[in-house]
Amino acid sequence: CGIVGYIGTQAATEILLSGLEKLEYRGYDSAGIATIWEGEVNCVRAKGKLHNLRSKLEQLENPAQIGIGHTRWATHGKPEEYNAHPHLDTALRIAVVQNGIVENYRELREDLKQKGHQFRSETDTEVIPHLIAELLKNPDLNFLDAVRQAANQLEGGFAIAVISADYPDELIVVRQQAPLVIGFGQGEFFCASDTPAIVAYTRAVLPLENGEIARLTPLGVEIYNFAGERLKKQPRMLNLSPTMVEKQGFKHFMLKEIYEQPGVVRANLEAYFHNSTDASVSPINLGLSESLYADLEQIHIVACGTSWHAALVGKHLLEQLAEIPTQVHYASEYRYAPSPLTPNTLIIGVTQSGETADTLAALAMEKERRQGQEAKYQARLLGITNRPESSLGHMVPNIISTLAGIEIGVAATKTFIAQLMAFYALALDLAARRQTIPKETVEQIINGLRQIPQEIEETLASQERLTEHLAHEFADTQDFIFLGRGINFPIALEGALKLKEISYIHAEGYPAGEMKHGPIALLDAKVPVVAIAVPGNVYEKVISNAQEAKARDSRLIGVTPVKDGEAAEIFNDLLPVSSVDELLSPILTVVPLQLLAYHIAARRGLDVDQPRNLAKSVTVE
Ligand code: G6P
Repeated sequence: CGIVGYIGTQAATEILLSGLEKLEYRGYDSAGIATIWEGEVNCVRAKGKLHNLRSKLEQLENPAQIGIGHTRWATHGKPEEYNAHPHLDTALRIAVVQNGIVENYRELREDLKQKGHQFRSETDTEVIPHLIAELLKNPDLNFLDAVRQAANQLEGGFAIAVISADYPDELIVVRQQAPLVIGFGQGEFFCASDTPAIVAYTRAVLPLENGEIARLTPLGVEIYNFAGERLKKQPRMLNLSPTMVEKQGFKHFMLKEIYEQPGVVRANLEAYFHNSTDASVSPINLGLSESLYADLEQIHIVACGTSWHAALVGKHLLEQLAEIPTQVHYASEYRYAPSPLTPNTLIIGVTQSGETADTLAALAMEKERRQGQEAKYQARLLGITNRPESSLGHMVPNIISTLAGIEIGVAATKTFIAQLMAFYALALDLAARRQTIPKETVEQIINGLRQIPQEIEETLASQERLTEHLAHEFADTQDFIFLGRGINFPIALEGALKLKEISYIHAEGYPAGEMKHGPIALLDAKVPVVAIAVPGNVYEKVISNAQEAKARDSRLIGVTPVKDGEAAEIFNDLLPVSSVDELLSPILTVVPLQLLAYHIAARRGLDVDQPRNLAKSVTVE
């Protein structure tokens, strides 16, 4: 979810709406805003995308100069209007928006119900306005005190913003393990879950820390801790400028982002590698601290979704090129069952947004348990992200920035390819330092990577028509199986995930050799199988596995190099990629799978850029 708040001299509604637009990546199943005008809280909410809320608000004249807004990704309660934020107390005097989860809401709600508070939603958030109202019955407490005492009673991770019709010049915000930044304008102040929501108005910002509360008034900002002690803080200047993101003639952002991939790889090549004639200088430069590399023995990677797939390709590279035992964990699992802490272990968090709550929580847990250990333990935390200024960027001492540019489509495409590039660079860097492969091989691989942008361009040019044609035939298919082996197994997973996410077709990715141990029972003429077959280590094996599927009447689609005669005979349909070394092939083989998912979803008339139930970045655990 995303929250935004405004207090100042301008009309709040438009500022809140434009802020929410920038936060839609955090969820978009409902939205709402509350303002204070003529001594009352005005709350308008709408189910569905933000434009529904916007059209409701257009019919209302509202010059209020204070307000809060929210865009939701449902956790507790269905995405219906009555569950949308802001939530109000029984007397409709206090409005609250929240990003996060209040874990002890059931006990609080029971207690408040007994005290006569009337609940109108199924959400955890609604306890907060009621709790504040209950606390305000004590005449010795002011608004800030009541919010602070309420925050002290809430368990979980949350960021909240609160306004009250009885305190029309105050906006109170709280941060506890969910991001919240305050923006400083002239006679006006902002708060938001993320800086893009306010960067059009101010670049002077102060990110709150966990356990901090701020009171924003038209005269200034005061910051306190949960004990009520005033803290001294200075805003800093952001160098982020407001970015205009346009579709540039493409029908959807996702398609545009697929086409931006050659340019993204070029940007990665330029940033991570350089041509030097001096043999003593490494051709790889990631700008990481030396302490990260010394005596490295093991790597653990934590990530979610598409980033987890990039991590699996990363594992293959780190083990096969740099010979470092590497494990990949779902961040949501690792947090509660971490591997034992061992010396000389590097932990890598991969998250394009830098805001995924599970990944941040796993890294925070790891950081905490390393505290009190030797300094080298603490240095061995690395983030791979497309948003170095994100929460992740503040959390870990080392960052590889993936330079893909802002990605709007919820289904990750260009940020995935950029994460792969980061892993190629990291694995080569480690391999060169540890001399696990000869220098010439390092150079050869880098030269191969330099060909990739053009090869993606060729693949895109040859694929567009083919995938569109196939999409037409598969638009009504109900199940798909994706097969790959070795370094292309994660690409089978990613191909299946892309299709599921945007076309709502059931799809599974499997290591091709595992198919015979279960999924083969699903196969018949109605279940097409997409096999990624690239000449190299496991090529013949994949081809045999594909034959096994064909023998069960499945229609076979091959993602395979163009000039391969054998493959052309086996597959019913071909999605050809340029001939490429198997080691580098994932950067190419994923492209036709992205296009296939895109065209099937577009053909089915679905909302490709904002698929149902998903969020670009899930900011709750
Ligand atoms: C959400 C998105 C996925 C994304 C995952 C991880 O589930 O819908 O597309 O891969 O989060 O996001 P991150 O920003 O951490 O890479």
